[in-house]
This record gives sequence, structure tokens and C-alpha cells, in this order.
Amino acid sequence: MKALVLNTNSFQLEEVTTPTVGEHQALVKINYAALNHRDQWIREGQYAKIQLPAILGSDGCGEVIVVSNEEHRHWIGKPVIINPNIGWGSDDRFQSKEYQILGMPAQGTLAEYVVVNIDRLYEKPVYLSNEQASALPLAGLTAYNALFNKGKAEKGMNILISGVGGGVAQFAFLLANAIGANVYVTSSKENVIQRCIDLGAKCGANYTEKEAVKNLAKSVGGFDIIIDSACGDGMNELIASLKPAGKFVFYGATKGLPKDLNMRQIFWNHLQLLGSTMGSDEDFGKMIALCNEHQIIPVLDKTFDFTDAVAAFDRMKNGEQFGKIIVKI
Ligand SMILES: NC(=O)c1ccc[n+]([C@@H]2O[C@H](COP(=O)([O-])OP(=O)(O)OC[C@H]3O[C@@H](n4cnc5c(N)ncnc54)[C@H](OP(=O)(O)O)[C@@H]3O)[C@@H](O)[C@H]2O)c1
Repeated sequence: MKALVLNTNSFQLEEVTTPTVGEHQALVKINYAALNHRDQWIREGQYAKIQLPAILGSDGCGEVIVVSNEEHRHWIGKPVIINPNIGWGSDDRFQSKEYQILGMPAQGTLAEYVVVNIDRLYEKPVYLSNEQASALPLAGLTAYNALFNKGKAEKGMNILISGVGGGVAQFAFLLANAIGANVYVTSSKENVIQRCIDLGAKCGANYTEKEAVKNLAKSVGGFDIIIDSACGDGMNELIASLKPAGKFVFYGATKGLPKDLNMRQIFWNHLQLLGSTMGSDEDFGKMIALCNEHQIIPVLDKTFDFTDAVAAFDRMKNGEQFGKIIVKI
């Protein structure tokens, strides 16, 4: 089969051995894969426990071709998406020490075929195309956990999604919008803010402009929840725009540590800083159910041919996207 193989800092589209199924496993023929920033971090060598060569890709939509056991035959021919969690563990609140994510070290979806355990398979939501469905798994799960388990998002709350051009952030925006929250966004791109307003956001601010977030917060009476993945020096301005007892939920730290953090503001206003990662298998099911209920259609940025997959990574590296970057396998 063809696979995009990452060696030290460089990708190659190679012919590799097609994997075979073990007990309670399925072979899925991938038709679309979606990128996550994790893939780009690994490409740059900025990820824990990198093992090379690797076939990356945590998101995929495809068709089940082979199953190991007779009892799983009903999956054959079904269009599926894959839960990228491997070994989340018994506590829904956090992942186990053995936890892994599909796509390094386990072979990922940037290949013609992938083998996964049967319990990782979910029927593709019927209202979505294969391309759209491939965008759901990792980003949808991360957004779900941050918004609902950590943020306790509810209808009518003021929720700010920062850096809404990102793959996870656009899901957080869509999910918060779907439940009837008042959703506000930030982005470095005016056209992304405008598209979100067209899709139901109340208003937006450009986080590269001084005091834009502060002014937005002032005009709407502050935020109950902020969902962020950048952290860095922008964090103080975001925290200052929370209402008393507001929650700052972050699932990444792309911009690293802030130079300083206004601790007095945090304790005096009873603010909560909540770290979050992808989410449990149960959350994955709930996320898919919520998408089905509200017919949520992920924002797709651009689809690249498999032969042009490196350009897809470059687009993510340069932060040019709004939504999910897709690779047609
Ligand atoms: N913990 C987990 O389980 C988990 C899961 C998923 C992702 N993550 C992490 O979360 C981050 C985002 O992942 P992703 O896949 O959504 O990446 P992505 O699609 O590459 O999105 C990155 C976005 O970050 C935004 N951004 C950049 N600088 C910013 C700043 N100073 N302030 C606010 N936003 C800023 C940009 O938004 P604009 O284009 O709108 O400016 C950009 O589009 C990465 O660090 C990733 O590793 C962690």
C-alpha cells in the first residue's frame, strides 16, 4: 500500500506492507484523512516520545474491508470514522499512563489502509460526506471535552473561542453555537471572523490588535468561558475578560508560557484555569451524538491530493487555514 512515511524531518510517499488484522481488529481502507497540529509538531520534532519512521494521521474516514472474527462481519463494507484514542483508561476525567493517539507510534491514517481495534470504529454520520466526516474525530473530541466537561458550557452563556481558525477551535465554535450559547471569536484573520459571524457568532476580535479582546469583552459584559490553545502572553488579556467565576479552558499552549500571570485577578475573581486534552471514549460517543443531533458540519479548509500531502502540512505550519485540512488518500 501507499503511505506517507515520516523519517527525520522529511516525508516520503512510499510503498509499504499492508498491515494485517489481529484478534478483534479491522482493516479500514482510508478515503480521507485530516491533519491535526499534533502531526505538524511531530514533523518538527516537537512532540514527546517520537518514534521514526512513522505513518502519522489520527483522523480518517474509510470503509471496513477485513475483520478478524466472524462476530464482527457486520462491519464489512460500512463507512466508518475512527476513534483515535488508544487506551484512554478507566477514569473518564483523564488519560491513563499507557495512553496513545493513533498515528505514531501506532500506524496512522495517512496511508491507504490502517488496522484498528474493532471498538475504535464508529459508523460515519449519514448526513456528512466522507470528506467532512474525516474531520471529526480528534478535533471534535478535544473541543467537546474542553467545552462541556471542563467549561460546563450551557445555552445563553457568553463563550469566547480564541484562534477560531484552528481545527479544534472551529469545532468548539460550532458546538457552542449549536447549543445556543452566545459565541464570540478571535482570530488573526478578518475573513475568518466574518465567516464565523455568518455562521452564527455574535461578534469577533482580531487578537493581533492591541486591546481588541478587552474592548470586545467590555462591550458584551465579559465571558463565562474562554476556550484557548495558544496561552502565551495573550493569556492575561483573556483572563481579564472573564466574568467573576469564569473558566479559562486550554487544550494546548502553542505560544508557551506567559511572561507573567496576574494571580490576584485569578483568585479575587474566583476564576478557574482548566487544562484539557482529547477526552474519553464515552466523550467520543457523546460528541458524535451531539453532531448527529445538530447536524454539525465541520468547517473544511482545503483538500489536498495524497501526492501533495506535504503541502497540506506546510499550510498548517504557516497557519493559513480556517478549519480542517484534509488529505484525499
Ligand atoms: N491536548 C490535546 O489533546 C490537544 C488536542 C488537539 C490540539 N491540541 C493542541 O492545540 C493547538 C491547536 O491545535 P489544532 O490542531 O487546532 O491546530 P491548528 O489547526 O494548526 O490551529 C492553530 C490555530 O491557533 C491559532 N493561534 C495561533 N496563535 C494564536 C494566538 N496568539 N492567540 C490565539 N490563537 C492563536 C490560529 O488561529 P487563527 O488562524 O484564527 O489566528 C491557528 O489557526 C496545538 O498546540 C495542538 O497541539 C492539543
